[in-house]
Amino acid sequence: MSTELEARQQGHAYPVRVGPAARGIAQFTQGHEGIALVTCARVLATPFGAGIAAALAREAPLAATVVLPDGERGKTLAVLERSATRLLRAGLTRRSLVVGMGGGAVTDAAGFLSAVFMRGIDWLAVPTTVLGMVDAALGGKTAVNLPLAKNAVGAFHPPVGVLSDPAALATLPPREFRSGLGEVLKYGFLRPELLPGLAAEARAGRAGERTLAACARVKLEVVERDPREKGERKLLNLGHTFGHGVEAAGGFRRWTHGESVAIGMAFAFRLARVMGRVGEEEVERVEDVIRGAGLPVGIPPAAARRAGALMTHDKKRSAAGLLWVLPIRRARGWAVEWDVVADPAAVREAAREIGRPG
Ligand SMILES: NC(=O)c1ccc[n+]([C@@H]2O[C@H](COP(=O)([O-])OP(=O)(O)OC[C@H]3O[C@@H](n4cnc5c(N)ncnc54)[C@H](O)[C@@H]3O)[C@@H](O)[C@H]2O)c1
Ligand SMILES: [Zn+2]
Repeated sequence: MSTELEARQQGHAYPVRVGPAARGIAQFTQGHEGIALVTCARVLATPFGAGIAAALAREAPLAATVVLPDGERGKTLAVLERSATRLLRAGLTRRSLVVGMGGGAVTDAAGFLSAVFMRGIDWLAVPTTVLGMVDAALGGKTAVNLPLAKNAVGAFHPPVGVLSDPAALATLPPREFRSGLGEVLKYGFLRPELLPGLAAEARAGRAGERTLAACARVKLEVVERDPREKGERKLLNLGHTFGHGVEAAGGFRRWTHGESVAIGMAFAFRLARVMGRVGEEEVERVEDVIRGAGLPVGIPPAAARRAGALMTHDKKRSAAGLLWVLPIRRARGWAVEWDVVADPAAVREAAREIGRPG
């Protein structure tokens, strides 16, 4: 079985398929002059990665396999230059196809390489992490980092298709997997009607086809309505403002991105409660769901203070100060709003609450 969604963006529609990937790959390789697989060693060594590489080799002339350094180390301009040189040497042309297979770091780097190689060639995304399947590979944003800032050089360059195969997740390290559940829960907090189903899956430590497709559908809907992040797309930053502060406070090592976002979402609901937008029940419900997924809802007090100070460097800022993505109570549950201004005293109070010893 597989679930097929359609992404529509920049006057261009492409399929996002959640289900077995290897079988469907020929549909995307057809009509291209040469194919390059861009991936990383860890993914290529998994049974899933090897299966995709073999399927590509069977389908079409696989002109090159570009193995990027793992994670963020693969998202640099130096690596981009080396990769583009590899593509040229392998004889790739404007009518070639790049297949980006890996976590969000690989799909970001492979997507950006495709955006700039010969002024833009087709690429197919094959995400292999939970975060990749519900977030990074969807929406057409591609980028590499500068030493000074993450994702500082990038382009909007949607792929020709996204193949998200739940089987790829079997080899993910447990912490990486759980971390991705933080982003899964984000969709449940954005769409409370999805929360019971997503929370149950997360509690069971699963991310199956239905869950991945439900999350992808929310992201695609939001991106379709607001491709350039002028409004609604900001909702996808729920938990990310304080979350980025947490990541920075932990030196980008102590807490993963998904763990930081989990803490940031608990923070957002606490801030909303301090502001009278939701009640204690909503905070308790959300924290219960996050803890159920094995993710944290608090950090030591000193780290919480530091996170609060560091998030003021976040780029989602205006003259009014930080703009928040926060819930507000509705007849049945809550709705989430963007561009909410919060009193600094309320922010400090929420940070005090998130700071818990132990
Ligand atoms: N473009 C976007 O809209 C967008 C959105 C969110 C995040 N991102 C980017 O995504 C990146 C984070 O992505 P991530 O969380 O997937 O991390 P990642 O890509 O760094 O991968 C995490 C680790 O898991 C390994 N891995 C990947 N798939 C595996 C598998 N199936 N089995 C075993 N190991 C596997 C990788 O080799 C790596 O070591 C960041 O660079 C972030 O900026 C982009
Ligand atoms: Zn995120």
